[in-house]
Amino acid sequence: MSASPRIAGSASAPAFDVERVRGDFPILTETVHGKPLVYLDSAASAQKPTAVLDAVRRFDAESYSNIHRGVHLLSERATDAYEQARGTLQRFLGAADPSEVVFVRGTTEGINLVASSWGRKFLQAGDEVVITTMEHHSNIVPWQILRDEIGIVLRVVPVNDDGELLLDEFERMLGPRTRLVSVVHLSNALGTVNPVARIVEMAHERGALVLVDGAQSAPHLAVDVTALGCDFYVFSGHKLYGPTGIGVLYGRREHLESMPPYQSGGGMIRSVSFEQTLYAKPPARFEAGTPNITGAVGLGAAADYLDGLGREAVARHEHELLEFATERVRRIPEVRLIGNAQDKAGVLSFLVEGVHAHDVGTILDQSGVAIRVGHHCTQPLMQRLGVAATARASFGLYNTRGEVEALVRGIENVLEVFA
Ligand code: ALA
Repeated sequence: MSASPRIAGSASAPAFDVERVRGDFPILTETVHGKPLVYLDSAASAQKPTAVLDAVRRFDAESYSNIHRGVHLLSERATDAYEQARGTLQRFLGAADPSEVVFVRGTTEGINLVASSWGRKFLQAGDEVVITTMEHHSNIVPWQILRDEIGIVLRVVPVNDDGELLLDEFERMLGPRTRLVSVVHLSNALGTVNPVARIVEMAHERGALVLVDGAQSAPHLAVDVTALGCDFYVFSGHKLYGPTGIGVLYGRREHLESMPPYQSGGGMIRSVSFEQTLYAKPPARFEAGTPNITGAVGLGAAADYLDGLGREAVARHEHELLEFATERVRRIPEVRLIGNAQDKAGVLSFLVEGVHAHDVGTILDQSGVAIRVGHHCTQPLMQRLGVAATARASFGLYNTRGEVEALVRGIENVLEVFA
């Protein structure tokens, strides 16, 4: 980092006892290759606390049934649990109303839903969508599909060598045809935290909407969509200590109400005849078919768990860990950090001189240290930074300084093997 990053937590955050917290995650006592597991891949998928595992098991064992359809007791219980989870997520995000929370499969489906429904209705040839160089493929490809189909223009905000957005360039890109800015909040590949509130302000001044990819920010920052002012915000359950196959699309009510269905079938209609179908209001309009009921319950439990710990406290803990890891890894001359933004969270991407990232990952795995290697589904960003792949350690609320030391020992071991 070019300077110490800003700490995301606040001074009022309660004390955070990482050892006690680790006791909430049964998987952390596993060994891999005979070594204690050091799990540094939470940006891909975070582990689940007992609170989530139990909520899912209890729901399936005691209340499981289909929802919104039955008159029997179990269906009522299941419907209540599903809608309660929606309410929990509404509070978690700071949304104005539960109807602004649409359950989807994850971030990818959330973005595809907006592109497909809002995009096809409101975008015309020549309209512009602004994305950035550091987007995940899931926030590039859906807009390219619209570009090829409708003729919209995609504009891409560049980044500097530290992996920060060039806001001046962004400002210059906003024009009379800009309809949407779709931007990642926290880069999965670099850890850069983008100034989303400012981006929203600038976009709104020009009459453009803003979609925020919150896949990495929801678990690591105390996000409030009302404070951010964004129009859409998407995230995935499995990165938020919850289940896979469930996530949330937040959309401001007036936008969701103006959007046509994304998929059709049961659950999204008000009435159907062979002549005409009337659609349900949001969020049901966007939840065709039987949804991931158990997943929603698990995600609600995960949000409650995080709030119970205090999201400010979690952010502070993770940030201190990132600063510590950055400082420790920087002492190894053969390591080059990729992504040195002033404002970072959760992610340490690096290269080890003379060693392919995949070999780094494989040797670390032998020491029990789980990291991700590759392009992290951000190939255009990798091309911009002139690298094919990086090794990426990513931190969750359960990681410790001792685990950072294990990472450092693992990298030293890599260097010995390749000496
Ligand atoms: N997008 C996920 C990651 O960054 C899978 O690892």
